[in-house]
Amino acid sequence: MALPPGDQTTSKVNEERSISSVLFIIAMQKEASPLVDKFQLAEQSDSLFPEGVPWMRYSGKYKDLNINILCTGKDKTLGVDSVGTVSASLLTYASVQALQPDLIINAGTAGGFKAKGASIGDVYLVSNVAFHDRRIPVPVLDLYGVGSRQAFPTPNLERELKLKVGKLSTGDSLDMTPQDAALILANSATLKDMEGAAVAYVADLLKVPVIFLKGVTDIVDGNKPTSEEYLQNLAAVVAALAKAVTKVVDFINGKTFSEL
Ligand code: ADE
Repeated sequence: MALPPGDQTTSKVNEERSISSVLFIIAMQKEASPLVDKFQLAEQSDSLFPEGVPWMRYSGKYKDLNINILCTGKDKTLGVDSVGTVSASLLTYASVQALQPDLIINAGTAGGFKAKGASIGDVYLVSNVAFHDRRIPVPVLDLYGVGSRQAFPTPNLERELKLKVGKLSTGDSLDMTPQDAALILANSATLKDMEGAAVAYVADLLKVPVIFLKGVTDIVDGNKPTSEEYLQNLAAVVAALAKAVTKVVDFINGKTFSEL
């Protein structure tokens, strides 16, 4: 079936190829650490990337898979994680070029909408991503701004692991303006993050399949201040995310794309 422009599946892959290398794109060190431990990955201080970038790479073999976890790293001046779309797209571009992975997984935390069924601690598999803060009210450029893309379809993974599935909307702010809210609603999103659609854009450019796993740290349409709720739940949600990601990686191990 032909998809409308701006809503393309992110890649055209040889479905019968087995998956041997997985690249994780993770914005926050806290989100990555339990996975680095679980997969017994080693920090690499090699020169894959230009000198001075804060990006962190952890790699190793887990079961039959070569796994690389890439983090955007700490901002050089402020010492905080380099969250948001700019860092995520640069890191995705550079690491795909350097590592040529079979599959990208963008894992992290997100806000969730209780009106769409999200609860704190849920881990979602994302079906579709789009932006909510790129408003360009000019014909066709409006669609470019929204940048809607589908994740690689994984019906067996979804069924076997009984994962919740929802759409993700991405913007560069943790808070939500009324305009953001209207566009998130238009995107039919259950989840709101700060990287997903940017990772999807680069994956689409470079023709690498991508899936997204997002743990809900805060309820966007609830009555608690987002940043407080986010910080309160971060540790527990990161643990739940790591558990779900491990199950997903165990499922992917030894499979072809068509078996996902
Ligand atoms: N990550 C975790 N919670 C978020 C939210 N409410 N908005 C954007 N990114 C998030």
